Amino acid sequence: MGLIDVKNLTFDYIIRDENDQIESSVRALDDINLEVNAGDFIAVLGRNGSGKSTFAKMLNAILLPTFGDVLVIGMNTKDESRMLDIRKNVGMVFQNPDNQIVANVVEEDIAFGPENLGVPSDEMRRRVDEVSSTVGMKEYLLKSPNNLSGGQKQRVAIAGVLAMKPKCIVLDEPTAMLDPIGRRDIIETVSKLNREEGITIIMITHYMEEAAAAKRVVVIDKNKVRADGTPREVFADYKTLRECGLDVPQVTELAGLLKNAGLPLRDGIITIEELISELKTRKS
Ligand SMILES: Nc1ncnc2c1ncn2[C@@H]1O[C@H](COP(=O)(O)OP(=O)(O)O)[C@@H](O)[C@H]1O
Ligand SMILES: [Mg+2]
Repeated sequence: MGLIDVKNLTFDYIIRDENDQIESSVRALDDINLEVNAGDFIAVLGRNGSGKSTFAKMLNAILLPTFGDVLVIGMNTKDESRMLDIRKNVGMVFQNPDNQIVANVVEEDIAFGPENLGVPSDEMRRRVDEVSSTVGMKEYLLKSPNNLSGGQKQRVAIAGVLAMKPKCIVLDEPTAMLDPIGRRDIIETVSKLNREEGITIIMITHYMEEAAAAKRVVVIDKNKVRADGTPREVFADYKTLRECGLDVPQVTELAGLLKNAGLPLRDGIITIEELISELKTRKS
């Protein structure tokens, strides 16, 4: 059993007319099978409309399967009596940091979600201190969230999720609205949570470089899983990537061009660090 088991998951959005009669339906996920293991760091890639956000919402019972099942630590998301437990274990961070702010003071904002899930307030104090320092926002606890940068707001959102002590965090394009510095901070924060706290990460992104930081890449296209492997494996399969409307990371493309130009570089370079160390060995 994985931490999260997705079995034959199909989801249809039901479109209703003004009289609440079913007008049509849109298939957003089609027979998805996936096992998420404890400690995974998965990047989910896919072009717009491929079903990524819908998939994210299935993982903590925001949406329920039309067919098939999603099991979170063995709990079926269809089992209403387990909903709170599922949401404590699988936290969500969305794209727009502004939509996630609910309080006028950072510490209250961090405490809001967990308090709603029944964490007692004395315990809450301790957790807020701990998680705000984990995401590097401790000095801002008494500040207003409105004055923070986008990246800082996202880190506050991540802290709010962390305060629930989840096993897994699902982030739906958390860097899409951020500047490069904010993006880097979020990827570093998320990587650290995975590496040091053992938190399972599922991160949807359309930045190939961000996917290269993950341990596993899942490509969703046309509502199905099209690829699943290490970043190196997935980025080596140009053909599938192209068919899914995706590209390799820029540094992989550059390494390919350098190789074509006669530099004896190895295949499978997916990060800047790898290219630098490869170029250094060639030089010496
Ligand atoms: N609330 C909704 N009602 C009807 N169709 C929707 C809704 N949300 C998404 N869809 C459709 O479901 C499909 C998958 O969408 P989505 O999960 O948002 O994809 P992605 O996040 O990969 O861009 C698309 O065809 C989209 O138009
Ligand atoms: Mg989306």
